[in-house]
Amino acid sequence: MLFYFTGTGNSLYAAKRIEENPISIPQVMHQELNFKDERIGIVAPIYGHEVPTMVKEFMKNAHFETDYFYMILTYGNRHGGASELAKKLCDEYGIKVNYIQTLLMVDNFLLAFDMDEQRKIDKQIDSQLQKITTDIKNKIDEIQSVTDIDRDAHKQFLENREKMPADAFTNLYKVTEACVHCGICTKVCPAGCIHIERDKVLYDSDKCQSCMACIHNCPQKAIQLLLGEKNSKARYRNEHITLQEIIKANQQNK
Ligand SMILES: Cc1cc2nc3c(=O)[nH]c(=O)nc-3n(C[C@H](O)[C@H](O)[C@H](O)COP(=O)(O)O)c2cc1C
Repeated sequence: MLFYFTGTGNSLYAAKRIEENPISIPQVMHQELNFKDERIGIVAPIYGHEVPTMVKEFMKNAHFETDYFYMILTYGNRHGGASELAKKLCDEYGIKVNYIQTLLMVDNFLLAFDMDEQRKIDKQIDSQLQKITTDIKNKIDEIQSVTDIDRDAHKQFLENREKMPADAFTNLYKVTEACVHCGICTKVCPAGCIHIERDKVLYDSDKCQSCMACIHNCPQKAIQLLLGEKNSKARYRNEHITLQEIIKANQQNK
């Protein structure tokens, strides 16, 4: 049994490579969260070196009965000791975790990266996935090790975040006149925080996971980051994942 969270498909692609029918966290969040299996895993992106808020809530509220629990954390540039932070989270929620590994993929963080450039970098995703799938199959016990440089990177990130406005990463988006009200943004949002009412896009920033699914999947590129972007013309979805799969994973307003 494998759970995943995704905004732009990287984590879903990785999850599908590990298990045939992974389960979307946004789709099970509001059900009874008791799970029993031989292996139970979570694949999720890291935001600021940690798992998304919804994944934390899921881990906090779920009860996992298994003798092998694992986490795969997808990221694009710097994991900042994500495995150690995830281990702390597991400890806090009473989850006995056997294996945590990060997986370097395309970085979808538009503020810092140009998607056209990111796509060109060979991050050896398949060979990383090969190791991960073999480790999980063999029930390897290993929490990826973390260096002081990683820990310092996270410390620095927290210090920088302190200096930013409190809503810098919640009130993220603006909708431009290019919007044709197709409603795709409302369907790809895992937290159901976007609605269209009479040709107006309404965005409830309180529930926003900052996954950027709306911005990356908008066919008109009509949603933009308020904080600025490296390249507002370039958007990203994992090449192996369709828009329909993102909708199936995330849609709340069915
Ligand atoms: C809000 C936000 C914060 C992010 N923070 C980090 C980070 O701290 N380090 C990093 O290497 N990548 C970071 N990323 C990149 C994602 O972790 C990476 O692209 C991930 O594979 C996306 O997974 P998904 O396609 O399943 O949504 C961030 C992305 C977003 C949207």
